[in-house]
Amino acid sequence: MSAEVEAYHPGLEGVIAGETAICCVEQDRLLYRGYDVGDLARHASFEECAFLLLHGELPTAPELALFKKQIDGERELPGAVVEVLRAIPRQAPMMDVLRTGVSLCGNFSSAKSQGASNLLTRAVRVLAAVPSLIAVRLRILAGKPLLEPRPGLSHAAQFIYMAFGREATALEEKILNLTLVLYAEHEYNASTFAARVCTSTLSGLHSSVVAAIGTLKGPLHGGANEAALHLIDQFRSGPDARAWVEEALEKKVKIMGFGHRVYRNGDHRAFILEPYVDELAKARGEPWRAEVYHAIKQTVWDKKKIHPNVDYPCGLVYYFLGFPPDIFTALFVMARVSGWCAHIIEQHENNRLIRPRSRYTGPAPRAYVALAAR
Ligand code: SDX
Repeated sequence: MSAEVEAYHPGLEGVIAGETAICCVEQDRLLYRGYDVGDLARHASFEECAFLLLHGELPTAPELALFKKQIDGERELPGAVVEVLRAIPRQAPMMDVLRTGVSLCGNFSSAKSQGASNLLTRAVRVLAAVPSLIAVRLRILAGKPLLEPRPGLSHAAQFIYMAFGREATALEEKILNLTLVLYAEHEYNASTFAARVCTSTLSGLHSSVVAAIGTLKGPLHGGANEAALHLIDQFRSGPDARAWVEEALEKKVKIMGFGHRVYRNGDHRAFILEPYVDELAKARGEPWRAEVYHAIKQTVWDKKKIHPNVDYPCGLVYYFLGFPPDIFTALFVMARVSGWCAHIIEQHENNRLIRPRSRYTGPAPRAYVALAAR
């Protein structure tokens, strides 16, 4: 093997595995197509952000109106998909329901497109289907009637309406929109890389999104927001939380919502989201949850000098918005599917099959032994 192939980086840590014009993740900045995530978080709707990721430019007003209309036009799920959502056992995690739902929607999308794989059309279909799949499943589990999408609502408000049958408050819409912008894209993270690997074989968009959903589910990746809430929810005071975390760190337990493969000076998205933890804890009359949140964060810093990532504040924010923990990572999918589709399109534009090598550590060559002699 030539020298350069010999280099082995566990978990591909530090390896540049491709080029992308979609997102720049650095210690001092996080850019979506050159725009700072802080600016987008302050000023952009998720729909503007998704358009930017997919098309490379922020939309004009007519472009945004058309994009939103296209998404609205794809929100209704095929009847057969709804029937499957009814048939899936109640205890199935929402991430598994989404994996199945998106896969099934792919069959109907292909039928609708007669196989012509217009990637942007398929991307809009998945962007629209994900919140509908989550909302319809929630209504089925609650024994409530399904609700038709209401045209004209924002992506965030539409989800809250279809899932919970009520108008989103201005605060709920603002914060859900903010989390969708923050979760939308993050360069070659594990689930995006899975989507690109699948795409590099020239497989279909829905197959690549299903591969990404399966990857994001893991608690070392997207599943951390739900796990972080379960951690915080164990404690009713800062000192209790501190004592537990100190003991856990002694035992080398990973604290969910902390650490990041790239960020060593903190996750820009966590810094943006964190003020809402304090605001919502006060507004919801549960200030002690903010005390626990900060006690865990301080303890991990004191003991390991590790910062929170976006999942740590997001789990508690979603709790305060009244969302069931089982959908927290599915909401991550609702946002990240825009980034995944942007990467799928980019991979097609300059594709080369992704096929790394591995270092062999198995037995030396040996002769076959007949069954009778084993
Ligand atoms: C996301 O890639 C992305 O961009 C992902 C994401 C995105 O937007 O797509 O940002 C979203 O997935 C955020 C990460 C969510 N996952 C978690 O919060 C799970 C907990 N985090 C860890 O498992 C860990 O921090 C990772 C997986 C996120 C990163 O791990 P690395 O880079 O492989 O680092 P490591 O496991 O080798 O740890 C290095 C050291 C070790 O200590 P030592 O053995 O050297 O003494 O740091 C310690 C680890 O024990 N460490 C932690 C820790 N994370 C790292 N110790 C306690 N708790 C943690 N969370």
